[in-house]
Amino acid sequence: MRDAAPQTVYLKDYKPFGYDIDSVQLDFDLSPHATRVKSRIAFRPKPTSDRRFFLHGEQLKLIAARIDGAPVTPQVNAQGLMCDVPDGPFIWEAEVEIDPANNTALEGLYMSGGMYCTQCEAEGFRKITYYPDRPDVMSVFTVRINGPHPVLLSNGNPVSQADGVAEWHDPWPKPAYLFALVAGDLVAHADEFTTKSGRKVDLNLYVRPGDEGKCAFGMQALKDSMKWDEAVYGREYDLDIFNIVAVDDFNMGAMENKGLNVFNSSAVLASPETSTDMNFQRVEAIIAHEYFHNWTGNRITCRDWFQLCLKEGLTVYRDSQFTSDMRSAAVKRIGDVIDLRARQFAEDQGPLSHPVRPESFQEINNFYTATVYEKGSEVIGMLRRLVGAQAYAEALDLYFERHDGQACTIEDWLKVFEDTTGRDLGQFKRWYSQAGTPRIKVEDNWNSNTYTLTFTQHLKPSATTPDPKPQVIPIVTGLLAPSGQEVVASRVLELTEAQQSFTFEGLTERPVPSVLRGFSAPVILENKRAQEHAAFLLAHDTDPFNRWEAGRELARDSLLAMIRSGAAPDLGYLDGLAKVLSDTTLDPAYRALMLALPGQTDIATALHDVGETPDPDAIWSAHETMIEAQATHFAELLPALFAQNQVREAYRPNAAQSGQRSLANAVLRLLCLNDGPDRAQAQFDTADNMTQQLAALAVLLRANAGKDALQSFETQWKSDRLVMDKWFGLQVMQAAPADVAETAQALTQHPDFNWKNPNRFRAVFGSLAAHHAGLNSADGAGYKLLADWLIKLDPVNPQTTARMCAAFQTWRRYDAERQALCATQLDRILAVPDLSRDTSEMLERIRG
Ligand code: ARG
Ligand code: ZN
Repeated sequence: MRDAAPQTVYLKDYKPFGYDIDSVQLDFDLSPHATRVKSRIAFRPKPTSDRRFFLHGEQLKLIAARIDGAPVTPQVNAQGLMCDVPDGPFIWEAEVEIDPANNTALEGLYMSGGMYCTQCEAEGFRKITYYPDRPDVMSVFTVRINGPHPVLLSNGNPVSQADGVAEWHDPWPKPAYLFALVAGDLVAHADEFTTKSGRKVDLNLYVRPGDEGKCAFGMQALKDSMKWDEAVYGREYDLDIFNIVAVDDFNMGAMENKGLNVFNSSAVLASPETSTDMNFQRVEAIIAHEYFHNWTGNRITCRDWFQLCLKEGLTVYRDSQFTSDMRSAAVKRIGDVIDLRARQFAEDQGPLSHPVRPESFQEINNFYTATVYEKGSEVIGMLRRLVGAQAYAEALDLYFERHDGQACTIEDWLKVFEDTTGRDLGQFKRWYSQAGTPRIKVEDNWNSNTYTLTFTQHLKPSATTPDPKPQVIPIVTGLLAPSGQEVVASRVLELTEAQQSFTFEGLTERPVPSVLRGFSAPVILENKRAQEHAAFLLAHDTDPFNRWEAGRELARDSLLAMIRSGAAPDLGYLDGLAKVLSDTTLDPAYRALMLALPGQTDIATALHDVGETPDPDAIWSAHETMIEAQATHFAELLPALFAQNQVREAYRPNAAQSGQRSLANAVLRLLCLNDGPDRAQAQFDTADNMTQQLAALAVLLRANAGKDALQSFETQWKSDRLVMDKWFGLQVMQAAPADVAETAQALTQHPDFNWKNPNRFRAVFGSLAAHHAGLNSADGAGYKLLADWLIKLDPVNPQTTARMCAAFQTWRRYDAERQALCATQLDRILAVPDLSRDTSEMLERIRG
């Protein structure tokens, strides 16, 4: 059955469901092609609402339906069913048949490597049975699973476990999107945790046999997260058991199903030999994220999917606080800002721009975006900065107390802050409703010992925000004396007007301002500050973020000058950076971040921002030239830097060691330019951990000296799917622009290119999409190859296809020839008959 014509859903049309559900009982008879699902749902009409009885259901074979025991014949269509029902409470029963083995979309109940698993957020439960599949319908679930599998799991606490049948009961009312079921031949890595009030919780990480050695780190991260949420937010776990399952085929990172988190194996499995430091950090952050959802998402959920940022923005914010506490706060903040600029700013500046709380959508899966997640988190960071840490904590306590067990809105969220602080957050709310990145200009004035900073804010009108209004922007600012001494410590300047001035009295000489410290608001600071000014902050700023930012700005400006006029790399930047690199009082991780250049996409964005057409090849060359200049300019420094940052102790994925490795590996690349590939080959040959091995392989590939290493890596890791994802991805990432499409194309011919596996598909095509000069190569080969494969994947897995379409979101900023090549490919995909709703919505928005 095909989808009906795509329909747009609007926030303003929200209506409550006409019934409460007292209880849900589900009975599963598992079978790969014919799983039977029996449901028994106790409905109770609400006194006032519209009582139309509609249950969602898609791709279900209805076997039987009964109301209060008597057979009924509902009217069924592709979206669900309607039925005449009694006026009072009644019991709805249905039996449906589904085909998990053919469910390649990985939404609903599906199979992965012989195991059954589910993904229901956002609207996947309707592919399991008929149900009001909306987050504001919450109920208590009892689940019985019949199947010949040693492990049978669902949400909540176990009621009974016997051979081939298990029953689970979840006492906490929840929406259907938090339902989960897992069945398979799995092994558990078990542990336990005692909550602060003394509840003993069994913890299990279920994996496929063979993966037992990759569980310890994830388990520790879980226990750290549980402890942290108690200590920082006062939130305790609320069931007797907490299960995590690793699944190889998964569209996203992970899912916070109540008591049964399901993870993409890449987001939970980790071992030193097979995972990089970055992988470990990601696992720790995602474990924390999903665990934190137990309160921000599950105990308090969303009224409707427009409120997605209510749980996602807050949970991302919480996991970023966790990572800052576990590791280095400055390094975490810089990493987050790099990511925000690369993904969220790009989204905001193109055709996919939408508010943190969108007001309409066709396919909600297309709105699990950087704007909802990362900008949603930034908005909470600003709120905390504005009200202060103490009031933030009080407001959160009130939020949990007032809304526990409810499905809420952004209005509910803001109200707890208003009630706690007495502040009017009406203007602040624009952060949720206005799309786009505000631009800030700052000017300063020095007049008889009074220093004045004048800010203006501007938001470009867009389709969703035609008439933008000023927002409340917390601008954390400090002032430095020309000696480098800080004379005014960081304070929050609250910019609320389109233009506004702030004065500082009692200074004896004109200071140098350090504004937007810590990146205190997700805005673009537009003013061109003098080159010396940035160099001064690079040398002296006490705010680690702004010190990094000053270096970043110098690097960017130098790259732009190289691109525009063939200028040589800026010596001021290189000298400033040399000082930072050799300053051993600075964290190696921080120095590694300093050494890295702004990404090529960021440079393209910077050019586009000022009305210029970015040339991907010129950007690529400027990058290469700058890296060569770094190698030459730092030649004296590098060998010592490399030696000092070799870790001598046994591998641990902690902040200190990973910082050293990241600096040493960045240096390795430069050393290879100076001295040839021997050092990289030696590191590759002797590495006892994936971070060192993979970094060396990357350097060798870059130097065109990686053929043998690539081969031996493949031989060594052939049977490890997560490592092989790296092998696939790295070849595309490290290819020269002209070879990218060809390399990717060749990899699709490899026998292990299982394109239906999202991780493997993304390894190749996510890397292609991330290769700025390769994707946008002048012959259009990048666009064409990506389009070929999106067309192929769409009927199999619309969600992953649609997400990958975002690679095209910037197409209009390039030259006419590239635009024409890209348009041809976009139109070719759009012309495919029966294109999924996911992909057509994305491409129609992108094509414009
Ligand atoms: N709620 C999950 C998280 O923790 C993401 C699930 C998204 N799934 C989807 N099909 N859009 O972020
Ligand atoms: Zn989440």
